[in-house]
Amino acid sequence: MSPDAAATVRPRLMERYRRFLPVTDATPSLTLGEGSTPLVPAPRLGAAIGVPGLHLKVEGQNPTGSFKDRGMVVAVSKALEAGARAIVCASTGNTSASAAAYGAAAGLEVIVILPRGQIALGKLLQALMAGARVVAIDGNFDQALAIVRALAEQEDHPVTVVNSVNPFRLDGQKTGAFEICDDLGRAPDILAIPVGNAGNISAYWAGFLDYAREGLIAATPRMWGFQAAGAAPLVSGRRVEDPDTIATAIRIGDPASWDKAIDARDGSGGRIEAVTDDEILAAYRDVARLEGIFCEPASAASIAGVRKIAAVGAVDPGATVVAVLTGHGMKDPHTAEREVAGVVDSEPTLGAVAVALGW
Ligand code: F0G
Repeated sequence: MSPDAAATVRPRLMERYRRFLPVTDATPSLTLGEGSTPLVPAPRLGAAIGVPGLHLKVEGQNPTGSFKDRGMVVAVSKALEAGARAIVCASTGNTSASAAAYGAAAGLEVIVILPRGQIALGKLLQALMAGARVVAIDGNFDQALAIVRALAEQEDHPVTVVNSVNPFRLDGQKTGAFEICDDLGRAPDILAIPVGNAGNISAYWAGFLDYAREGLIAATPRMWGFQAAGAAPLVSGRRVEDPDTIATAIRIGDPASWDKAIDARDGSGGRIEAVTDDEILAAYRDVARLEGIFCEPASAASIAGVRKIAAVGAVDPGATVVAVLTGHGMKDPHTAEREVAGVVDSEPTLGAVAVALGW
């Protein structure tokens, strides 16, 4: 297939939504095939949690397996346009995997600062395979981000920060909201999303507002954000010094987009609530077993949150609810391994296999 034919089948994100993005004729047309991810109806999971109108936005199908690619393609293209040679980010894993991939494709040096021992194996290997220089600090994500901001001030080493404090990241991430509206032919009634550094909930809200302003949707959804109970500063209203959760992607105590997330919540008539690690893990198993979609633990926070609110009768059964599954489950094999029963060993005979199956 020619590159043009490929673009017709899977349109380039920056072309598809060009009029909503900071793309000019001088912006390089970088792509790894990001965006245009499926919006999947989830009737079995929906029935199990009492939300018949549940749909899943499967962001694990992006090139590096998470939603970060939507924002990274724009941020790295704009960095190239501005003549950058190097990019830098702090990360709980997915931002670094995405920055490393787009940086490699763009021929840029990539520097990543991570909290040591807190990154899912697949994400770390993605960054290293793509040639990023990875520094692991004995600290958390919030400290890593503070160091990244300081590194960017060093005049002798010019680097562009590609965390979501870079506005081009949020511009790109708005496209998730556009795609959901385009697929449904309207906005959902409720958009459920995990919240860590709070960039994505802010970007989705900005995207829905763009579409409403252009008259492309008649109403905006209520934004329901979910944090892990051990890392829920937006719920308590207080910074968390030592955030902790099994969902390492959202193990963040001082979100950079704090105010924007509160605006999304309040402007949409929404809510930001906490879900426990046990609730996250139950949702993580159920979305795989009932819908066949393997997401990462942080992503399952959106399902855990909707389930919790539906359980107290606060979800209208006629509501169209979209839960964003932000990243792919294969990134984090260790958490999955702890959740499954494992294989049954057998001798290589029909009889032994029948016994193993309990037939
Ligand atoms: N889900 C996943 C899988 C993530 O990786 C992240 C954030 C979030 C949800 C939360 O999104 O930060 O915009 O509120 N991961 C960042 C990273 C922090 O470094 O990969 P957010």
